[in-house]
Amino acid sequence: MGQTGLRDAVVGDTRLSSINGEKGELIYRGIDIHDLARSSTFEEVAYLLWFDALPSRASLDTFRANLNKRRSLPAKLAAVLRDLPHDGTPMDALRTAVSALGLFDPKVMDMSLEAQVEKALTLTAIFPTILAAYYRISQGLEPVAPDPSLDTAANFLHMFSGKKPDDRAARVLDVALILHADHGMNASTFAALVTASTLSDMYSAITSAIGALKGPLHGGANEGVIHNLLDIGEMENVDGWVTRKLAAHEKIMGFGHAVYKAYDPRATELKRIAKEVGAAAGTTKWVAMTERMEQAVWNAKQLYPNVDLYSASVYYTLGIPTPYFTPVFAISRVAGWTAHVMEQYADNKLMRPRANYVGARGVTYTPLSERKDDIKL
Ligand SMILES: CC(C)(COP(=O)(O)OP(=O)(O)OC[C@H]1O[C@@H](n2cnc3c(N)ncnc32)[C@H](O)[C@@H]1OP(=O)(O)O)[C@@H](O)C(=O)NCCC(=O)NCCS
Repeated sequence: MGQTGLRDAVVGDTRLSSINGEKGELIYRGIDIHDLARSSTFEEVAYLLWFDALPSRASLDTFRANLNKRRSLPAKLAAVLRDLPHDGTPMDALRTAVSALGLFDPKVMDMSLEAQVEKALTLTAIFPTILAAYYRISQGLEPVAPDPSLDTAANFLHMFSGKKPDDRAARVLDVALILHADHGMNASTFAALVTASTLSDMYSAITSAIGALKGPLHGGANEGVIHNLLDIGEMENVDGWVTRKLAAHEKIMGFGHAVYKAYDPRATELKRIAKEVGAAAGTTKWVAMTERMEQAVWNAKQLYPNVDLYSASVYYTLGIPTPYFTPVFAISRVAGWTAHVMEQYADNKLMRPRANYVGARGVTYTPLSERKDDIKL
């Protein structure tokens, strides 16, 4: 049987999002991702995922205010961030901070729907603040307080750089957040649900998810893409680089997908905004090289790009440092994780799969005194 990666296993029902891998289609609560990317905001999408409807103007205003009043870092959590090693990865800092946050919440084990929504709001509101604070502390700078007039994307850029971003940059990041907010039963969502299914608390579930998202086969791939582009350096090197990587049977980050066997619809939107943001910044080099890479990989192996291919040049052009690419994914995906955790709590069953045992049986126990040296440590 070997490793199955649970590819076709169904873990339960969901009403949140669905992928049609053959058609290259993604829907959140029935709405096509292209419509959401072009017309909505990240806050509307988080509301949609949690409450199963797009908000009215009044509900959206209340929702945004609810998020904004939860963005500040508790002083003790800021102290935790200051005490962490400053050369660590921001995903590790985020995972540690979210785990610690649970200790500061007196309602950590309150499983009422009201308390669940409060936690989902707190987590979604505070991710950008945690990450921007860790970045600034690690650079020897003072953290910048959240601006209550700014939404998630703009606030992150503001707290990160200390400058209010222009509307175009904020909108570009906002669209990226919409596109990453949910994606069926991906590895990090599954990790969150395994933890939630034990009726552990939401902070623990989201801590599990952050650990899973960090890996290079999941959220970490966008950082790999920019490392590759920088390594390639110039347009004329792209084709040769791709040929060498494929000949060496190396995986090229930003290509292939466990579910999509067609063009990832998120990549379509990210390619569009990568071109826009590149043109606005006067640096189309990275997106042009990415397009060339897409063509070369297609010609050689007929592999489609995934969400990480074009998000890399978007974030790079926005001036976000590479180690923060995967954290940007987390800033968005926490909306989907928390929505799935609430869905799990509403109809819970402990997740407890089985493994196919292929080891030995009937082995005789050897007493310690009779065992031969077999040093493996
Ligand atoms: C995402 C991923 C793990 C999906 O894996 P999968 O569906 O299990 O696909 P497999 O690993 O079975 O690959 C199937 C074939 O395509 C090839 N392939 C898949 N992704 C590839 C990539 N990024 N670069 C080169 N070849 C790739 C495999 O080598 C394999 O080829 P083979 O049949 O000649 O051996 C895989 O595509 C990958 O590692 N991609 C790079 C990391 C990445 O971008 N992750 C972000 C996902 S959103």
